[in-house]
Amino acid sequence: MSSSKAEPGRRLPIVVLLSGSGSNFAAIAAAAADGSLAVEVRAAISDRPAAFGLERARALGIPAVAVPVADFPDREQHDAALARAIDHYDPALVVCAGYMRIFTTAFVSHYADRMLNIHPSLLPAYRGLHTHRRVLADHGRWHGCSVHFVTEELDGGPLVAQAPVPVLPGDSEASLSARVHRAEHRLYPTVLEWYARGRLRCEHGRAWLDQQPLETPVRLEDLDGET
Ligand code: GAR
Repeated sequence: MSSSKAEPGRRLPIVVLLSGSGSNFAAIAAAAADGSLAVEVRAAISDRPAAFGLERARALGIPAVAVPVADFPDREQHDAALARAIDHYDPALVVCAGYMRIFTTAFVSHYADRMLNIHPSLLPAYRGLHTHRRVLADHGRWHGCSVHFVTEELDGGPLVAQAPVPVLPGDSEASLSARVHRAEHRLYPTVLEWYARGRLRCEHGRAWLDQQPLETPVRLEDLDGET
């Protein structure tokens, strides 16, 4: 990993991991481009060569790299190749943005305290897949998204921040997902800016913001744009 520390006044080198559409990647890249986020997006890397997020990266002139699962005999070797691809760009932080594979222990420890993830629920509720569908099936009134540091526990690492999103009458999985995505596109750049400015870190299994351990995630209200 880069020896670069998060310091005021410089751009933090990051690599984004994605498996699909890459709208979070695009939001991060846009914030970096307009100067509101002090990161340098060095590459987008995917397990899926056809991921639309890689096309978005190419269109922005950002290196787009596929590390296809099918090219490797097991998870360990795929994750080892993924780590080599990431480390080639020497990032200070790895940003998971819709990367849909579970990491091996070796991979997680290689990036310990240096990897963030965004998840479409108010964790610890609704870990795993199909969160929008499950919230609707439960007739939940609130949904949202969370950013957390990555540990071995699936969707279970130290929480940093959350944006609640209301479930509205008549919502479908698609309409709720779109509202959560809008919140994600504001939540993730906000949290990344804290990290890039040296305000956020993960230490001893806890997230720290402005030198204080976070007992509960920061709650960012009204990040869903038009509800
Ligand atoms: C986002 O909603 C993200 O929270 C979710 O995948 C979507 C990716 O969208 N991640 C997970 O479910 C990880 N457990 P995008 O490709 O448009 O950024």
